[in-house]
Amino acid sequence: MYTCICARVRECEVRAAIAEGAHDDESVGEVTGAGTGCGSCVDRICGLIREVAPAAGLRGLAAAS
Ligand code: FES
Repeated sequence: MYTCICARVRECEVRAAIAEGAHDDESVGEVTGAGTGCGSCVDRICGLIREVAPAAGLRGLAAAS
């Protein structure tokens, strides 16, 4: 399933980027390209950060975004 249609970035790619340390929407955009087009997917990206970041030991960083 695509999280970002503009950049054709799948949810699994966003999850992987977050797990590897992309802890805000800008970082996810730099790594994957997601959220760098129309911006309509940024809320979904932030939701994935809140979901995935704590599991990756990044609790607190995602809350600040
Ligand atoms: S759908 Fe992600 S930037 Fe447009």
